[in-house]
Amino acid sequence: MVMWVFGYGSLIWKAGFNYDERLVGFIKGYRRVFYQGSTDHRGTIDYPGRTVTLIPADGEVCWGAAYKISKKEDKETAFTYLEVREKQYDKKAYLDFFTEPNASTPAISGVMVYIASPDKKLNKNYLGPASLEDIANQIVNAEGPSGPNRDYLFQLEKALVQSGCKDKHVIDLANEVRRILLERENTGS
Ligand code: SIN
Repeated sequence: MVMWVFGYGSLIWKAGFNYDERLVGFIKGYRRVFYQGSTDHRGTIDYPGRTVTLIPADGEVCWGAAYKISKKEDKETAFTYLEVREKQYDKKAYLDFFTEPNASTPAISGVMVYIASPDKKLNKNYLGPASLEDIANQIVNAEGPSGPNRDYLFQLEKALVQSGCKDKHVIDLANEVRRILLERENTGS
């Protein structure tokens, strides 16, 4: 059996494992939000960054990329790699994946998706909602072993544009981060 993995965050621009096919498309019933705290990639324990997770959202879709992994050894390597990389994501869901906006039948069923749940007992890094300005400020200031949090946001914005997907939350946040950075530059703070 082949394995399919859906990425809606850093997995869109950096798979990090061998795959046979990559498809741009979406899952239904979820929204991408910067609600997950990151202490291992884009922040630290003292100053967590913010990365994306999914929240249920009736009637909405979340665009990203799905990767097909066929060879037995590639599946094993990819799964082991992802379990470490996505270790702050406490849930895995197996969802329908669509490539055509008007299609009612999925292109692929059972695509594996890592989700960081709001359950603080299972996911101690969950941060949840905050104002756009507060989320942006946290992203401006956070940096972790994988690099500055702002680069994560800007790479996500770029990867979505390259895939032809518009995500208002990501665009608004990237614009707010750029505004704060410009303001800092102008005031020298
Ligand atoms: C994903 O990309 O699907 C998970 C979230 C992340 O690692 O950015």
